[in-house]
Amino acid sequence: MSIIVTGGAGFIGSNFILDWFDNKSEEIINIDSLTYSGNIKNLEHIKNNKNLIFIKGDICNQELIKKTFDDFKPRAVINFAAESHVDRSISSPENFIKTNILGVYNLLEVSKEYWKNLSSDKKNHFKFYHISTDEVYGELQINDPSFKEENPYAPNSPYSASKASSDHLVRAWNQTYGLPTLISNCSNNFGPYQYPEKLIPLCIVNSLQNKNIPVYGDGKQVRDWLYVKDHCSAIRAILDKGSSGETYNIGGSNEKTNLEVVYSICDILDNLKPNLKGNSYRELITYVKDRPGHDKRYAINSEKISQEIGWTPKENFESGISKTVYWYLENTSWLKELMSEEFRSWVEFQYK
Ligand code: NAD
Ligand code: TYD
Repeated sequence: MSIIVTGGAGFIGSNFILDWFDNKSEEIINIDSLTYSGNIKNLEHIKNNKNLIFIKGDICNQELIKKTFDDFKPRAVINFAAESHVDRSISSPENFIKTNILGVYNLLEVSKEYWKNLSSDKKNHFKFYHISTDEVYGELQINDPSFKEENPYAPNSPYSASKASSDHLVRAWNQTYGLPTLISNCSNNFGPYQYPEKLIPLCIVNSLQNKNIPVYGDGKQVRDWLYVKDHCSAIRAILDKGSSGETYNIGGSNEKTNLEVVYSICDILDNLKPNLKGNSYRELITYVKDRPGHDKRYAINSEKISQEIGWTPKENFESGISKTVYWYLENTSWLKELMSEEFRSWVEFQYK
């Protein structure tokens, strides 16, 4: 038996594959086109594992996806592949439409044709699992109840709109064609191997280089943070126990303002790697122009996954953020390789 994982060289996908082989031996076929955020070195530790097969390819390439299904006959596909950064979706949305909508459409079509021709036993067990985000629900005001699975979709950025579109396609392929699907909508992840354009790794990397830590607007926006390994265990649990056609919200119950997140990181660094001049890293915090359409608050109600699947997170924000900062300090060579032309030009573009 095998499963196809798309986007398995990215942040969450690579953590998922590492976590999978810590718990299971079933073969994974990882299809990833290696965009700027995909890094095959994330899987360096298990590169000799014979049960991990890597195919460099685009989820929009129908022929390649179809051939991979025909060759490996998976029992499931888990789609992590996406354009994932809100700021990039604002400056250039096209790739978000291509990968996040057309790519998912392509995966659904190939999966449907493959699934239709399976024997009835295999047909009953096949799963198309789509990884999505809480951002599809739009923004909450400070006293609103957290997002439940029944909340209406109200995406505000090109990124969240593209993810919302793909969630709707997955739902439609289930309702119309009977394809057995699963969707999970997760809150902000953090942990090892996250590309340093997102708030937490960017804050760590800039601090270590004595560069400004950019805080958008007043820094009072709230996100719910989930340690990535907890997300991986939730995905494994949903793949095993989730019901076809269902959606599950996954959260860490760790609501923090962006400023609280940045302060935590600065304080941990002040302890672990004090600034040579004796200044606190907090002094690097710089308020910059707000993101257009910036959602004020996200919060997740995880009752459904907890009650129906029996999953709860192991880490809280404090334990997860310490592990994360420590990981980045221990893995500066991974970081240095990323400080490519592409990343530098993105950073320069951002702060013009
Ligand atoms: P990421 O940007 O780190 O990784 C995305 C991966 O997909 C990369 O390896 C990239 O090379 C690959 N990819 C992109 N376009 C592709 C294409 N057309 N064909 C094949 N591969 C392609 O993103 P991430 O943070 O790991 O997010 C993974 C998934 O989880 C996404 O679907 C995202 O929407 C969702 N999600 C992320 C978060 C978060 O906080 N990071 C939270 C909730 C949900
Ligand atoms: P980000 O990590 O980009 O994730 P998302 O937009 O998917 O929530 O941003 C997290 C929060 O941090 C968001 O409110 C925007 C804010 N932010 C900053 O204040 N400064 C930054 O440099 C970045 C990248 C994000």
